[in-house]
Amino acid sequence: MKFFVDTAEIKEIEALAATGLLDGVTTNPSLVAKSGRKFMDVLKDICAVVKGPVSAEVTATDHKAMLAEGRKLAKVADNITVKVPLTPDGLKTCKVLSSEGTMVNVTLCFSAAQAILAAKAGASFISPFVGRLDDVGSDGMALIADICTIYRQYESFKTEVLVASIRGPMHVVAAAKLGAHVSTMPPSVLWQMFKHPLTENGLAAFLADWKKTGQSILD
Ligand code: E4P
Repeated sequence: MKFFVDTAEIKEIEALAATGLLDGVTTNPSLVAKSGRKFMDVLKDICAVVKGPVSAEVTATDHKAMLAEGRKLAKVADNITVKVPLTPDGLKTCKVLSSEGTMVNVTLCFSAAQAILAAKAGASFISPFVGRLDDVGSDGMALIADICTIYRQYESFKTEVLVASIRGPMHVVAAAKLGAHVSTMPPSVLWQMFKHPLTENGLAAFLADWKKTGQSILD
C-alpha cells in the first residue's frame, strides 16, 4: 500500500519524506487556504521534496475552465496529479487530461456508482472519502470494499483506489486488508501509526539495562 499525506504544509511533508515511507501528497483547496500561501508556490515546494504523485485540485466547475486549470497545474512538475471533482464536467476533464498523459485524481467520491464512472473516464486515482461517510452514519469502509471488488472484475480498469478522509490508523489497516492501493492521511495519523505503548516501554527497558553494562557498540 502506498502512503500519501493529505496536507499543504511543507514542513510536515519534509518531516514525513525523511522517514522514507512517503509515496505522495494530496492537497485540496481547503488545505491550501489553511496554509495561507500561494497555491503555485506550495506545489513547487512539495514537488521539490516528493517525487511521487502530488495532487493539485482545480477550482473551476465547467469543463473548459477546468481543462485550462488542469493543464496549467500539470506544467508545474511531471508528478503533478490533477484533481477534479466527481461531476460530469470533472469526468469529461479527466478523460481529456488522461488522454494527454496527465495523471488525474477524481475526488469527492461517495458511491460505488461514481467510482465506476471515474474508472471509465480513465482516472489514475479515485478518492472515496471514508471519514466523511462515517461522519454521517454511513460505512466508509464498506464503500472501499465495494470499489475494490468492482475494479478487480475488469482488467481494463487501471484506476487505483486512494482511500481519503482518513481519521485514524485503523482506517489505514482496514483499507490495507481490502487491498486498496493508497491511503492518504493527515500527518498526525501517519505519525500515530508508528506508536504502540509496548514498543515505547520495551525500548525504555532495553536501554536502561544496556546502560548498566557500560558498553557502547561504536567503541
Ligand atoms: C483527499 O484528497 C482529501 O483532501 C481529504 O482526504 C479530505 O479529508 P477530510 O474529510 O478530513 O477533509
